[in-house]
Amino acid sequence: MNGTIFVVSLVVTVLLLGCTIWTGLRGRRRAHYPFAVATVLSLAFAIVQARIYGESFVIPAMRLRIHLSLAFTALGLLPCAAVSGFLLIRRPGVRKWHRLLAWSFVVVTVAAMGAALWMLEGATPVDAA
Ligand code: HEM
Repeated sequence: MNGTIFVVSLVVTVLLLGCTIWTGLRGRRRAHYPFAVATVLSLAFAIVQARIYGESFVIPAMRLRIHLSLAFTALGLLPCAAVSGFLLIRRPGVRKWHRLLAWSFVVVTVAAMGAALWMLEGATPVDAA
């Protein structure tokens, strides 16, 4: 059951992230803001679900370290993307920064998700360990 909630929350997060990028690129600001907030909330929910789901597995230490490095980098980039987005509302000159920080966040987040799947692929269920 935990696994299903985790996978669904991950898929919802990816879809919301796609909508955030799409509305940002199209300049649809009124839709972009709620999608950005919904992406962050959904990502937070997915991380909590991943933690709960991960407790049922013994995870290879090196894969866990790689995943956590990417995940914490993404977490650090998120407020930077958000702050640059807020600044962009009134200052057009910030666009290149918002673009850079938002795309960096997207790339590192997708890499963290990929590393999470790689981690689970090499994991052993607790009761089989
Ligand atoms: C998950 C976080 C976010 C992502 C991934 C994201 C992504 C993007 C992208 C890809 C663009 C297009 C940039 C370009 O090439 O011109 C954009 C534009 C923009 N974003 Fe964000 N964004 C995020 C959060 C925010 C937040 C929190 C705000 C402010 C509340 C914001 C405000 C804006 C504004 C004002 C634009 C310009 C839209 C226009 O062209 O009129 N963004 N965003």
